[in-house]
Amino acid sequence: MFVSEVFVQNYRNYIKEKVSFENKTNFLVGKNAQGKTNLMEAIYLCSVGRSARTPRDRELINFDSDRAYVKVFVKKRFSADRVEMTLDKSANKRVAVNGLPITRIGELMGVVTTVFFSPDEMKIVKDGPSDRRRFMDISLCQMSKAYFYLLSSYNKTLSQRNKLLKNGATDDVLDVWDMQLVGLGSKIIKTRRGFVQRLGEKAAHNHSYLTDGGESLKLGYESESGETVEEIALSFKEHLLKDREKDKLMGYTRSGPHKDDIAFFVGDTDIRAFGSQGQQRTAALAVKLAEIDLIAGEKEEYPVLLLDDVLSELDLDRQIRLLNKIKDYQTIITCTHIDDNLTKAIGNYAKFMVENGKVTRG
Ligand SMILES: Nc1ncnc2c1ncn2[C@@H]1O[C@H](COP(=O)(O)OP(=O)(O)OP(=O)(O)O)[C@@H](O)[C@H]1O
Ligand SMILES: [Mg+2]
Repeated sequence: MFVSEVFVQNYRNYIKEKVSFENKTNFLVGKNAQGKTNLMEAIYLCSVGRSARTPRDRELINFDSDRAYVKVFVKKRFSADRVEMTLDKSANKRVAVNGLPITRIGELMGVVTTVFFSPDEMKIVKDGPSDRRRFMDISLCQMSKAYFYLLSSYNKTLSQRNKLLKNGATDDVLDVWDMQLVGLGSKIIKTRRGFVQRLGEKAAHNHSYLTDGGESLKLGYESESGETVEEIALSFKEHLLKDREKDKLMGYTRSGPHKDDIAFFVGDTDIRAFGSQGQQRTAALAVKLAEIDLIAGEKEEYPVLLLDDVLSELDLDRQIRLLNKIKDYQTIITCTHIDDNLTKAIGNYAKFMVENGKVTRG
């Protein structure tokens, strides 16, 4: 799929602007603080329902306005879709897909599929486990609405169990909640384990390409043991039971998929803790590129790749390798300047200049 048009009104530093993108590499070029990331954020917002930079929708509305509006058009192999979002300072946001209002954000999943990569995302290797889980969950939610609803149910059940723990619930009440938590949680673990397995294979391949065969990357999903949902459920259930007294003391559930992690190894080194910055960055990039292939395989359609400020973090050789790898699908890239050697190497691209909330074709 590709984003053919974005329209923003009173969004961040944009008053009213329409941009038509092409189904290839698109550069958004401009000085700092002109609105490059803001435009990308608007696309991401219509993809997963929230900004990657803030959980507070109000911040997205232009300072001098009470309401922002964003519209994104995508073209797919056999169809075209339109997502509209209205953000109001004093009301919840409203979302419509092809003109029809949606009430559950789950319905938005998969309409505009994106893979977002920024210097912040480059930290997924070294950040805490919760960032790696978030990465995994956003990716899986975009591939499957069923996963989105599964995860929402799990989170609701978990918060209910935690509330009961704090309020001194009895064992027979907890037994009932544990059964629910195990049922939902073991399905999540099974899905994530399969995801990390497939992601790992593709990431290893990309990593070898990016490092010119110099290093080998290995991913692993750290969770309950077991291959089948039943085996995982058994392990999870035992864990909950074993931890129950501690859980009661802390008023918090210590085991389950909300504590899981993805392990990153280069050779025998756990690069989450011991990798160099370059190693962590390259591994993160390899994983993001793998995510694109996975989504493409699942949805039979390439997602849109959003690269915010990523080029400046790579040397020219890796920039060229990266852009050659992604030239077959739509990419939107923000940068402050483009190296002539880079444009020569990739050939086919579209360039847009961004200045003070205005976008012109360069
Ligand atoms: N709600 C808002 N209303 C008006 N302006 C805003 C709002 N939120 C952010 N801005 C402004 O938008 C401007 C552009 O931000 P953006 O993050 O898109 O810059 P950028 O072009 O990506 O710059 P950089 O190269 O530094 O990343 C900033 O000056 C910021 O103050
Ligand atoms: Mg920016």
